[in-house]
Parts: sequence; structure tokens; C-alpha cells
Amino acid sequence: MDIKPQIAVLKDSTTTGTTAELIDLARRLNLPLINTPDPNFSHVLTFCEARLELHTLTTAKRSPLSVDFLSGPAYYRFIHDRRISQPLAKAVGIKRGYRPKVLDGTAGFGEDGFVLASLGCTVTMIERSPIIWALLADAVTRSMNNQAIGAIFNRNVTLKLADTIDYLSSSSNIHDTVFLDPMYPSLPKSSLNKQRMRTLRELVGDDHDGSELLNVALKGARKRVAVKRPIRAVTLDDRKPTFTIPAKSSRYDIYLIPYL
Ligand SMILES: C[S@@+](CC[C@H](N)C(=O)[O-])C[C@H]1O[C@@H](n2cnc3c(N)ncnc32)[C@H](O)[C@@H]1O
Repeated sequence: MDIKPQIAVLKDSTTTGTTAELIDLARRLNLPLINTPDPNFSHVLTFCEARLELHTLTTAKRSPLSVDFLSGPAYYRFIHDRRISQPLAKAVGIKRGYRPKVLDGTAGFGEDGFVLASLGCTVTMIERSPIIWALLADAVTRSMNNQAIGAIFNRNVTLKLADTIDYLSSSSNIHDTVFLDPMYPSLPKSSLNKQRMRTLRELVGDDHDGSELLNVALKGARKRVAVKRPIRAVTLDDRKPTFTIPAKSSRYDIYLIPYL
């Protein structure tokens, strides 16, 4: 049985954000503001060392969740892999001398979006979970002010809190590629066992509207839709992709618009 997470914004003596910042965050996310950890809440959002973190209160040994492009795997990948031959780049249609305008319709922690932006694509990231969006927005703001990667974010990244199904149905913005990476049903021993992914699943659950999302994406993309899937998972719906690009533990199903 899924238990809906109960989330509050915490302002206590260890919090580094100002009271005004935390009041504003609580108001924007429509969450209660508390000043001491409270057993009625499973998670709290708070500022630690100038970054927004989500702390899980119900599990003893879980590290706080935050998003960061300036350290950890995202930064490592940025430093060590700028190949336009990597599967993600090929999936969205990057070629020598060509960088598609991409709509990342399932932004999550923004890792895929950051790779595409650092390769020179303009990327509109869309996330519908307000908590994930807040963590990602905090990381995007910190990155914009950073010397090493600020230019990439200022030039190439836009982040929106929205449901991509609504956004694509009402927006007149044209994107060459719509990239989708919805949550898939949990598989035992999959990467979901990683703490971050476990917390993500607690917050957003499974994405049951993948077929509808693919439908609007196919209408909204100018050239292609690229869908990231676990290597052995079924396709997002009954439609057959035009072709598939294999990657290490995943694959990309590519739907070319002119050929559908
Ligand atoms: C598996 S994660 C994406 C991970 C992401 N590719 C990355 O590199 O960090 C899926 C995310 O898509 C979001 N999502 C799913 N369907 C969505 C929709 N229709 N509109 C906006 N966000 C959606 C979920 O809330 C979740 O945060």
C-alpha cells in the first residue's frame, strides 16, 4: 500500500535559510512551516549550507536528498563525458553542427537535461512534482551563479513547474525533440534500490499516464520523441518505435515524426 508522504518546511536553529525564504517556500509549495521536527511529518524541506534539502524523518539511515550539478555524478559526467556519440545525445538527435531544441518532459533531478544543455541544446525542463521541482530549481539557481557552469544554465536551461501533458497541449513553443523518462514500475534489484530513487518514488509514485504523455509528445515534437526505458521494459504503449538505441542499463525508443 502506498503511504502518501506528509511534508513540511522546517525552520530550526540549524537551518541556514532566512525565515523569509522559508516562509516564501512554504507558501509557494502550500506546505506547513514548522520549527521543530514533528512525528506527524514523514519528510521536511529545509536549507542546509545554502542548499535546499529534503530530509526523511521516518527512516533512520537515509541521507538528505538534494540536487547538485556542481559535485557528484552529474558534475563528474560533465567533466568526463562530452561525447556527442553517447546514447543520450544520439537519442535526441544531436549531430555534428546540429543541436536540437529539446523539451525534457520528465525533468526529475535534471541529470539528463544537464547533459543535453552542456552539449549545447536549449532545454526546457518540465517537472510536475512541486517538491522535486523545488529541489531542482534550487540547484539550477546555484548553478546559474557558478563560474564553471553558469553560462550553460543561463543560456540553455529553462525550468517550469507543470504537467507536460497540459503544457504541450496548450503551449505554442516548438521543440525539435521531446525527451521522456517517466518512472517505471519498481523492479527488484534495480537502480531504484538507490536511496535517491527510493525517495523519488515515495514522492512521485509510478507514472501511470505514460501512454497519454507519449501521445501529446508525438503531437508536440517537430522531429522526434525519445523515450528512455529500462533495457528490458516494454514500450510506453502499443506503438512501435521507429528504432531503438541501446545504452548500458537502459535503452532509448525513438519515434521519428515524419515516419509515423
Ligand atoms: C525517472 S524521473 C526522471 C529522471 C530524469 N531524467 C533525470 O535525469 O534526473 C521521472 C520524473 O518525471 C516526472 N514526471 C512524470 N510524468 C510527468 C509529466 N506528465 N509532467 C511532468 N513531469 C512528469 C516525475 O514527477 C519524476 O520526477
